[in-house]
Amino acid sequence: MQRIMAKIGVFDSGYGGLTILREIRKQLPEYDYLYLGDNARAPYGTHSFDVIYHYTLQAVQYLLEQDCALVILACNTASAKALRTIQQRDLPIINGERLRVTGYGKRNVLGVIRPTVEVVPAITKSGHVGILATPATVSSESYVLELEKISEGLQVTQQACPMWVPLIEAGEHNSDGAKFFVGKYLREILAKDPQIDTLVLGCTHYPLLKEKIEGWLRYHEEIEESEFPVAIHTEHIQIIAQGDLVAKSLADYLQRHSEYRDQLSQNGTCVYLTTENADRFAQSAEQFLGLPIQARSIQLGN
Ligand code: DGL
Repeated sequence: MQRIMAKIGVFDSGYGGLTILREIRKQLPEYDYLYLGDNARAPYGTHSFDVIYHYTLQAVQYLLEQDCALVILACNTASAKALRTIQQRDLPIINGERLRVTGYGKRNVLGVIRPTVEVVPAITKSGHVGILATPATVSSESYVLELEKISEGLQVTQQACPMWVPLIEAGEHNSDGAKFFVGKYLREILAKDPQIDTLVLGCTHYPLLKEKIEGWLRYHEEIEESEFPVAIHTEHIQIIAQGDLVAKSLADYLQRHSEYRDQLSQNGTCVYLTTENADRFAQSAEQFLGLPIQARSIQLGN
């Protein structure tokens, strides 16, 4: 017999997943959510596969123990490095054990990369696509591989932006330093492929820099044309952010999977957990969510 009280877990290394949670709650306000930011160990994007997988699995196990029927890895780095192993190796064991002990409620873990790449072929006109992401996501090649699966002939160029997440986690995304590093990585990716007409923000933190990115693309007084092999135009470049796409994809998933949907409680609540100081998290989270929240501090593994 199933208990009808499960939540939807949303996980990120830090604050970035809040950009996804905000859109999910706009589209699916009725459900109950548990957000977990592993702020104490962020950023993940500069760590190795083993570390990212180990941290992500700890977070997923924690959220499943808190009765989340679904866990969204609202983190590209975790989706790129850990999702497949968790889905294929760990979840069958976790689900088998749950069934044996409790007799109810299958669990699943979903990522953010697939729902994002699905819209790309319809948006690009030149077929030249840029991926802005953490070093770990770039080295996984997940975006390149997923795009290859759904569309032939796209020219995909990746750019690691290692300074962006630390700037955002430190609350410095409106600073001159952020402006400098936005210009630096955009210049680098456009120097690799000046025909890019679509840029994917392949990290859930990056929407906080969207205005600065747009500003640079629309009014690029800082570009020195001599840096580029040909004169480049950037005003028309489309930016793809993930929140709305992931939310739509989750709504569609729940529509198709009543075995998860039917376990979910519907009181419209959200609990915020962090591995860092709760007050500090709550203060910064307000900038991502646009509303005040309360948070609770927890410890993950060791
Ligand atoms: N929000 C995470 C992502 O989407 C940031 C990763 C990090 O902690 O570096 O990749």
